[in-house]
Amino acid sequence: MPKSLAVLLLGSGGREHALAWKLAQSPSLAKLYAAPGNPGIAEEAEIVSLDVTDHGAVVTFCKLHAIDLVVIGPEAPLVDGLADTLRRDGIAVFGPDKAPAQLEGSKGFTKDLCTKAGIPTAAYERHHDREAALAALERFVLPVVVKADGLAAGKGVVIAWSEAEATDAIEHMFGGGFGAAGAEVVIEEYLNGEEASFFALTDGETVLPFGSAQDHKRAHEGDIGPNTGGMGAYSPARVLTPQLEARVMQEIVRPTVKALADAGIPYSGVLYAGLMLTEEGPKLIEYNARFGDPEAQVLMMRYEGDLAALLLAVAERRLAGIELPPFSSDVALTVVMAAEGYPGTPQTGGAITGLAEADATGAKVFQAGTARDPDGVLIASGGRVLAVTARGASVVEAQRNAYAAIAAIDFPTGFYRRDIGWREVARELNPAG
Ligand code: AMP
Ligand code: GLY
Repeated sequence: MPKSLAVLLLGSGGREHALAWKLAQSPSLAKLYAAPGNPGIAEEAEIVSLDVTDHGAVVTFCKLHAIDLVVIGPEAPLVDGLADTLRRDGIAVFGPDKAPAQLEGSKGFTKDLCTKAGIPTAAYERHHDREAALAALERFVLPVVVKADGLAAGKGVVIAWSEAEATDAIEHMFGGGFGAAGAEVVIEEYLNGEEASFFALTDGETVLPFGSAQDHKRAHEGDIGPNTGGMGAYSPARVLTPQLEARVMQEIVRPTVKALADAGIPYSGVLYAGLMLTEEGPKLIEYNARFGDPEAQVLMMRYEGDLAALLLAVAERRLAGIELPPFSSDVALTVVMAAEGYPGTPQTGGAITGLAEADATGAKVFQAGTARDPDGVLIASGGRVLAVTARGASVVEAQRNAYAAIAAIDFPTGFYRRDIGWREVARELNPAG
């Protein structure tokens, strides 16, 4: 394919650095722009100054620079309708419109869609009213899950093990604890099982599988401590066997895509399904309308095709003619290095060195919350700072390679978990267990 595409990537996290890295390797890519970007993304793209919330400014930039494709990384601009604006102006965009992005933006929307389309998910009730929500608790056994309906940066979910905890969660949400996201709550049945994430690309009609992953959400080793955006991940998720993956496509993902198309709000982009593998089979916990962070880092480490061409085919509704996306049979594993204090208030400003040495081990360090100080020194500027990502023939090997790369990095005000992948490592070392 000739190098012809001009792509604009929006976002500034580790996910976007991984996307930028893979886009930059695409044979079809001629020029990559990114906004707002970060110092890692700046190594792959020309950083441009653009306010992503100013949709008109994004359109003007695209016209001026003959952009062939806009790739929207995070959920906020999707839920805000940026893709709608771009499409209306004839600009190809990877990412769903505002209406189908409700799959991520509203838990109640997704639950109702599951009911209509017969998609397996936890039993639930939606409530706008505090009294009715409290009364509903009677109809659920403990533990029960209480969720703020809207976007709450992954924090709007409470697993209540006692009635008091459930009551507190409901009071907190209706009391404005999660702002507008808590104006409605979803109360749902607790599902038992192992979690896994599954990714699929769709242009509204055709659906292609795009890999699987598992992450570690808790801040500390042994999966304890506060919830975070993700302290590490690996791909593939071996618990999601080919048989289970086929069921997820058949029972969950395809019916979702069809239901949205039938409702006149076709979904275009990546569908990130958070699944619980229960004894009865896979059930949907939630959808995200974007790639995961740090799941994108491990997916990009394994994806072997032309990402720019593939994402453009999604945007232009040409997936029907596209072959299955090729992935390496290797395992990829990423370890997040966060700033001390995360997920509370992170200590910013700490110097980071050794990234080139880490990359020289064969790993790839994706940058998230980094910045350059006035002297050009790389410093921490956010909670999750680096995602150190490596490949290997097994999880054991990928894990060893990731931690070998971390050993080359000097980041005294950072911390990381030393047990990323533990569950899978245990299974590898004791397959019968
Ligand atoms: P969500 O933001 O909906 O993905 O929920 C965050 C986390 O809460 C999930 O990754 C699960 O670990 C847990 N969770 C959410 N819903 C349930 C459920 N119905 N049963 C068990 N765990 C759940
Ligand atoms: N790592 C979880 C997410 O991106 O939502």
